[in-house]
Amino acid sequence: MAFSSVDLSPRMGSQVTIDKSVLIGGAHAGEIRALLDRRGVLLFRGIAPSDGELRAIARTLGDLRLGASKRGADGKTLNEGEEGVLKVSLDENVNPEYARFLPGNHLWHMDGTYEQIPPLATLFTPFRLSRTGGDTCFANTYAAFEDLPADEQAALEKLRVVHTMPAALFPAMRGCTPEEFAVWHSYPQRSHPLVWHHRSGRKSLVLSTSGAWVEDMHQAESHDLLERLMRHATQDKYVYRHKWQLGDLVIWDNTGAMHRVLPFDRESSREFHRCTLNGEEPITAAQDAPATA
Ligand code: OGA
Ligand code: MN
Repeated sequence: MAFSSVDLSPRMGSQVTIDKSVLIGGAHAGEIRALLDRRGVLLFRGIAPSDGELRAIARTLGDLRLGASKRGADGKTLNEGEEGVLKVSLDENVNPEYARFLPGNHLWHMDGTYEQIPPLATLFTPFRLSRTGGDTCFANTYAAFEDLPADEQAALEKLRVVHTMPAALFPAMRGCTPEEFAVWHSYPQRSHPLVWHHRSGRKSLVLSTSGAWVEDMHQAESHDLLERLMRHATQDKYVYRHKWQLGDLVIWDNTGAMHRVLPFDRESSREFHRCTLNGEEPITAAQDAPATA
């Protein structure tokens, strides 16, 4: 069988069976993209891709982000790694620039909400596992939106949320120094619609720990709304929790899903290698979506 898949949970995640060479060859790239859009996260077991193979697979699926060329004009856009492979590790010897932003990964988030066009997807493979903990969880934000009552959907579609670096990091690093806080605060903010009307016609909630406040709403009301939506969207029925094995390759959708990593022991030097695919559409609200005939 060249390509087959089974669901990992009712509403999130599929495991795909495909030969490594076929995966790298890209013959099923269209099916994989479609399945990723529908299922939010894809698991391939026993792949153990080298960095070169990870890049090759990424390039069959989309536009591989190259770190050096993607530095923003502000000079502060997070570097995705030379040659398109980023090492995700808390060890500052492995990735000095990135390690101090990683505590935010423990909270539910989308990657790159500071960008106008957030990344499309991430390819993620373990290099070294933690002894304990370190599962990664994924939540389906299409399903969370679809299950809301129609009047609430309509109200949410009118709202915009400002995403900030302090909002993403402070809850994970309450003991930060004023200097650290000031660095986070110096990063650009970005306002996005709360509901993403995708080109496909489907809609998803744009939720992330980076979502600091709802525009034009009292701060207390905004806080309660974002907290309630986050609780709604991360109920077990929308979540797939992945327990890693060496050799796994996971691809997650960053447009209709959130993810988080569960706590793990810092001493075990957990290390993953990742490739990021650049986004293909800005987060567009329903009212400013192009009219269809
Ligand atoms: C990330 C991330 C989760 C993990 O790399 O963006 O959130 O399991 N990683 O390390
Ligand atoms: Mn992330």
